[in-house]
Amino acid sequence: MSLSAVIGYLLKGYVGEWRENPSFMKLFEESYYRGLLGFGKEKSFEIGGNKILLGGVPDDNKYYLFEHHSHTHYSDGDDFYKILPVLFKHKISLWALTDHNSTEGFDGHYKLLQEDGGSLSLNGVMEKHGVDTGSFEYSLEKMEPPNDKKFMKLVRTNRDNTEEIVMMRAVELKVGQGDIYEGELNLYGIPYGISISPGTQFEQAIRETLNLGGYSIINHPYWTEGIAAIKESDVERAVNAGASAIEINGTEILLAMFSNARTMRLVEKYDIPLVSSGDSHTPCMYGKSGIAFPKEEFDKALKVRDGDYLGTIRYLIENRLVLNYFNPISPFRLGYLLRGDNSKKYPPMRIGLEHLGIYI
Ligand SMILES: [Fe+2]
Repeated sequence: MSLSAVIGYLLKGYVGEWRENPSFMKLFEESYYRGLLGFGKEKSFEIGGNKILLGGVPDDNKYYLFEHHSHTHYSDGDDFYKILPVLFKHKISLWALTDHNSTEGFDGHYKLLQEDGGSLSLNGVMEKHGVDTGSFEYSLEKMEPPNDKKFMKLVRTNRDNTEEIVMMRAVELKVGQGDIYEGELNLYGIPYGISISPGTQFEQAIRETLNLGGYSIINHPYWTEGIAAIKESDVERAVNAGASAIEINGTEILLAMFSNARTMRLVEKYDIPLVSSGDSHTPCMYGKSGIAFPKEEFDKALKVRDGDYLGTIRYLIENRLVLNYFNPISPFRLGYLLRGDNSKKYPPMRIGLEHLGIYI
């Protein structure tokens, strides 16, 4: 997309929202939006029964953090192996890699795991990719049924400690609606060995995912490639087809403000759960925004479901038993972002533009 197309798109978005909802601009005066722009301290509030924590990260002693919309070099994100230490650093417990039209990050490793008897050391390949593994041993491990085809375990150990991240098979799929529209949809928990083809009509993709025992999320609605970029009624159709939740991007707020404002209205209008994500493409975006499951609720639900992670995650999302956390990137948060994240290589403006398909 060219820069002039992006400016046109943004103008259309903001003017369109203002015409549909004249009080929209007043939202900027409300504390929630001031918070999104980076003013103010950490705060908690609720929208449509969805719990939100703005400007903070849930306590990992009480919550399992789920990074559920993210990219690596298997599509347009940073090196897969560079991301692994970042996930541990941010105390992520659950990770869904949603590369564009690709499950290779999961499938390639899963295949090697099968050949290697269920455990695969990663230190060699990580070092080859220039990752400093320090005193840690990194490995992937197969999981037992009913999780074996949809999840793997990423393990990091040193002398004192063992940490684990459960990684889910997922994809951000380009879906179609005849020849007039293409959008994206996040699909989770489709078993290894099965894919849904890019270009599948979006309601069909949602139904197929459900039939395969997975769930789907309406990701970044209204944003350039999201469902509803053309028609709001597409969200209603996706909800009716069985989508589990609607996503708001908690990290790239500044440019995406109008789409997030609209999404908040949709959450209440269709009474659908909200999930916050980072749509992370670079190491500095990982760990900023996502959802967190209260440990007590998660463990209880997992036990009732005989250890079925997919069923547990879906149940908790659909019943709003999650805490959404947001840490927007904005000029006001630039200092916060650059401190301790080794992200000078990726200033926020570049992240925003990259997400729009502009590479500078
Ligand atoms: Fe994405």
